[in-house]
Amino acid sequence: MSQYRYSTLAVHAGQHPDPLTGAINVPLYLSSTFELTGVGTDRGWDYSRAGNPTRDRLETALAALEGGHSGHAFTSGMAAISGLVAMLHTGDHLICSKDVYGGTARLFNQIVSHYGIEIEYVDTACVKAVAAAIKPNTKLVHIETPSNPLMVLSDIAAISEVAHAKGAEVSVDNTFMSPALQSPIALGADIVMHSTTKYLNGHSDGIGGALIGSKPEHKERFSFVQKAAGGIMSPFECFLVLRGIKTMPLRIKQHEENGRAVAEFLSQHPKVNLLAYPGLASHPQHALAVKQQKGFGSMMSFDIGTRTNAAKFLGAIKIFLNAESLGGVESLASHSATTTHGSVSAQEREEMGITEGRIRLSIGLEDKEDLIADLEQALAAV
Ligand SMILES: Cc1ncc(COP(=O)(O)O)c(C=O)c1O
Repeated sequence: MSQYRYSTLAVHAGQHPDPLTGAINVPLYLSSTFELTGVGTDRGWDYSRAGNPTRDRLETALAALEGGHSGHAFTSGMAAISGLVAMLHTGDHLICSKDVYGGTARLFNQIVSHYGIEIEYVDTACVKAVAAAIKPNTKLVHIETPSNPLMVLSDIAAISEVAHAKGAEVSVDNTFMSPALQSPIALGADIVMHSTTKYLNGHSDGIGGALIGSKPEHKERFSFVQKAAGGIMSPFECFLVLRGIKTMPLRIKQHEENGRAVAEFLSQHPKVNLLAYPGLASHPQHALAVKQQKGFGSMMSFDIGTRTNAAKFLGAIKIFLNAESLGGVESLASHSATTTHGSVSAQEREEMGITEGRIRLSIGLEDKEDLIADLEQALAAV
């Protein structure tokens, strides 16, 4: 289907009518096992941990949307990251963006490091720092761009070039952008990772994750991890994500329009400090955002001074909901230090710049005038 444009792919890739009945929606195959046709022969499926017809459809769609070779759906974004590092070995070196989702750092520091894998956090906004950190045993450079919650960008093409020159692969957490706004594989990355919980599902009614590989060896590796470690997405969740994907390009357009309007409003507000939104010309990496992204998305964060001010603001919002997560139809506001980065020590948060007064916003699909009015009255309460 690669000849088609993006919205056509979103509606049709992996979503062809059911060959048996003609149903135009992908059927929900709630079957743990499949009748075999003989000894060692089957109709393409034998056991749902190894493969399920509904999951296959989603995996096909994900590969098409990211321009990859194969898609692999996991039970959560964290399960996808676990799958990404599952095939590393004792003695391997893993480089990770310094400003990364707190759950990723928790997994790396408190589980993956126990297996003798050396993890090094690097300021991946600086390509030279990445090049300097790569060692002969570096197997993977994992970057999150834009990062959570500070919206720091890493140059995917430049990092891929330096990593490949030294024999390391590059994986990109593309959750904040969605496949609609950033194509890491086209920029040179090897693997894309998503929390499908966010823009891909888009309706805040499920948890899931995905890996998209660019080469046949990734298909072999990640299919094996799915089967051997078992963290696969359920058919029902696959159905929801397939449904979400059909409207993703349209949703992202509105997320983006609302995001820009809210960022412009906040950028003029006297109580808002250190607003991080790559779509603003004042963002230090605006030029890189223009170069590697197809839009600026609807995630942003700002500082409101103190934890007390953050609590007053979150207590006053009426349309925005005080909740973690992002990428759903409803606008959310959250206190980064106690939510996404709650498991990161206070000292590390301080070093990262995640202050006690930092608020992250995920801009939803409500009318932008209502969202701005809500923010205005909540800021007045601070
Ligand atoms: C950037 C990013 N990566 C990964 C994850 C983990 O995804 P999940 O919550 O689906 O496990 C999150 C969750 O918030 C995230 O924001």
